[in-house]
Amino acid sequence: MAIPAHYIQELIQRNNIVDAISGHVHLKRNGRIYKGLCPFHSERTPSFTVYPDTQSYYCFGCGAGGDVINFTKEINGLTYIETVKMLAQQSGMPLPDEDDKLSRLKSRIYEMNRIAARYFHANLNSENGKTARAYLRKRQLSDKTIVSFGLGYAGDDWRGLCNHLKSKGYTEEEMTSAYLVARSSKGNVYDIFRNRVMFPIIDLRGNVIAFGGRLMEGEGPKYLNSGDTPVFKKSNGLFALNIAKKTGKESFILAEGYMDVISLHQAGFNNAIATLGTALTSQQAKLIADYAKNVIIAYDSDGAGQKATRRAMDMFSKENVSVQVLQMEGAKDPDEYIKRFGKEKFEMLINKANSALDFELIKLRQQYDIRDTQGRIDYLTKACDILATIPSPVLQDVYCSRLANETGADKESIKLELENSKNKAYKSNNYKKNKEILKEGIAGGIKVDYRQQGNTLPKVFAQQQIIASLIRDNDIFELVDSQLTENDFTDLNMKNAYIQYKKLKQEGQDVSYALLCHYLDDETRKILAKINAGNADIIITQNDLQMHIDNLKSAPMGQNEIKQTSVEDLQKRIESLKEKRK
Ligand code: CTP
Ligand code: MN
Repeated sequence: MAIPAHYIQELIQRNNIVDAISGHVHLKRNGRIYKGLCPFHSERTPSFTVYPDTQSYYCFGCGAGGDVINFTKEINGLTYIETVKMLAQQSGMPLPDEDDKLSRLKSRIYEMNRIAARYFHANLNSENGKTARAYLRKRQLSDKTIVSFGLGYAGDDWRGLCNHLKSKGYTEEEMTSAYLVARSSKGNVYDIFRNRVMFPIIDLRGNVIAFGGRLMEGEGPKYLNSGDTPVFKKSNGLFALNIAKKTGKESFILAEGYMDVISLHQAGFNNAIATLGTALTSQQAKLIADYAKNVIIAYDSDGAGQKATRRAMDMFSKENVSVQVLQMEGAKDPDEYIKRFGKEKFEMLINKANSALDFELIKLRQQYDIRDTQGRIDYLTKACDILATIPSPVLQDVYCSRLANETGADKESIKLELENSKNKAYKSNNYKKNKEILKEGIAGGIKVDYRQQGNTLPKVFAQQQIIASLIRDNDIFELVDSQLTENDFTDLNMKNAYIQYKKLKQEGQDVSYALLCHYLDDETRKILAKINAGNADIIITQNDLQMHIDNLKSAPMGQNEIKQTSVEDLQKRIESLKEKRK
């Protein structure tokens, strides 16, 4: 296919599979996945499932499965190239062959960003980087942390990066459009980031898309962030989401700043993320909702932080993400807290993080003087309004008792007051919405824990699991590549998948399911959609992966086994194993 990989990357990024499918299928959220009635066969109970994590869909009823491009193609009966054009048009992208210029510029920016990140990192380790190294030491960052976040140092000179990029063949125009370099009124170009500790911002596909730079001392803004470029929109960016996503944890910690996130990761809380110096936007909340069910807000303990907390809570409630709020005392932010009190204390904070409800009640309580009768009445009335919005009668009762204890008022009267509030609230959406959420229950879907089957299933299964793991976590490629060659993949579908995967990796692409699909035949695409579906709720550990690798490296697969393990057979076998587990 002549369409370049980066074009497909962009297309996939702009066309979220959940949104695309929602236009045709009524989808209901169920934890991290979505379910609906399959548009490709007729059914009464939903077995059509969409997985935002892998951006894939799979129907447990008819076996249809694929990525966003494939879905659009099938549902509209288009050819592949027609589909690409249609999606491009819908998402405001130039058509593949019509705007090579912009897509070329984008790949050049990705390249320049990567080169810049390497340059800053090398600088940090050079003679020039002495003060920056000392600074990071002072902030107690380990070498491991510095390397894993790719931290760097932008030197004091005005043209260091400029000259470096020039020597690699980039033009001044390209550098300015990457927001790495600016042009003075006299027309000379100079580095935007100077004498700053550099934090690269990496997207979910592993591209360096922007930078944040912190001044170590002296005059000027404490942090400087990249402005918007053709590959970066500040209001969509999230720091460390690329790492947090891979933890597979259901709960994320949302902090305010770069240093908080880095400190948290260093202390083992590798599910921490942050916005890039702006208040949380609805796009960011949506993006987070694709990966997390719950968010613990750990904003600064100052007034601004608390205000931002409330705002973020509203954003998340729209996305059906549950929220807890961390109340730090004795420290300004998580970074400071961990340094002062240690990670164990922070863990304790997390464990007793207040629910959004507690947070609201605490804030409300601070507004009234409950020793005063009127103050007490006003507080209770407002508190009941808040309690009326929660759907659980049990919880309401618990809180009524608490309020009674706290104010000395009679519990029964508080309950009457609550009934009043409930009548008022009944009409409001909030109540209905919460009730719906409660009805949805926990994630359904079939879980195949392959750890219990790995040894009994044929080698084909191991090969499929390896490819599926590679798609989920590009970082394991080296582990696989160092032990297996394409010839270890005896299944022709998986062999082709591995060859294509490796090729894309070597081109520096972050290989997602959707990107790989672009290079696969229909059958392989479907098999992988099915494996994605089966693995949706499973964390694949290194041990699991090694087990599959070892499986492939042991005695070669007999001709018989190859013949016997047609896809149909394999599917049947997996189904029967699933049945047994039920
Ligand atoms: N920020 C910014 N521009 C500034 C100050 C802050 O963009 N002039 C953003 C940065 O993303 C920063 C976040 O706001 O990470 C939080 O700011 P602040 O709490 O001041 O910084 P910390 O993250 O605590 O950084 P440090 O501990 O290094 O002071
Ligand atoms: Mn700080």
